[in-house]
Amino acid sequence: MKTDKLIFRKATGEDIPFMSQILVDAAGASGVNIRVNELPAYPDTYQYIDGFPNRQDVGIIAETENRQPVGAAWVRLLPTDAHAVKYPMPELTMGVVTEYRGMGIGGQLMVELYKAASETGLTEISLGVHRDNAPAVGLYRKQNWVEDGFFEEYIMMSRKL
Ligand SMILES: CC(C)(COP(=O)(O)OP(=O)(O)OC[C@H]1O[C@@H](n2cnc3c(N)ncnc32)[C@H](O)[C@@H]1OP(=O)(O)O)[C@@H](O)C(=O)NCCC(=O)NCCS
Repeated sequence: MKTDKLIFRKATGEDIPFMSQILVDAAGASGVNIRVNELPAYPDTYQYIDGFPNRQDVGIIAETENRQPVGAAWVRLLPTDAHAVKYPMPELTMGVVTEYRGMGIGGQLMVELYKAASETGLTEISLGVHRDNAPAVGLYRKQNWVEDGFFEEYIMMSRKL
């Protein structure tokens, strides 16, 4: 099975190209359609990856035995957290490449991220998910994220680690 030999490891700056693709996919799932090379022109989106990893950033990459990355999840405290409905806290970005979805990788990425984030001293993380993004909303509900309110069309959620 495709997921038999997956490796979960910490993300580094060398993963920025792959993480940028995941960011663009996640934005697309929210109805924001941009290309990776256009990211710098969209600061609201680019801030999720620009200069990764800052001192407090933490991320996980899922990859195959052949070192092909198939998913990523990371959190960072945004410079201007205009979305915060509770209080500013590191915000999640995540995604799994299309042909590897629905196999449990998103769930495993989350669990690995909780562990890594908690090891860096974080106690709570947040996210914003478009209300129509059913797969992501389903994943977060299954993982016991708590809904804190809305920011425009986004459900804002948080989870204690
Ligand atoms: C959201 C996403 C990361 C889920 O990853 P995944 O590896 O397919 O998820 P998993 O296989 O681990 O599924 C875990 C749970 O998520 C939910 N889920 C996953 N796909 C779903 C779907 N198509 N519809 C409804 N719920 C879904 C289910 O609760 C599932 O648990 P179950 O299999 O026991 O029913 C993936 O769909 C994705 O990359 N989407 C595009 C990027 C994105 O939207 N990122 C989030 C932006 S906020």
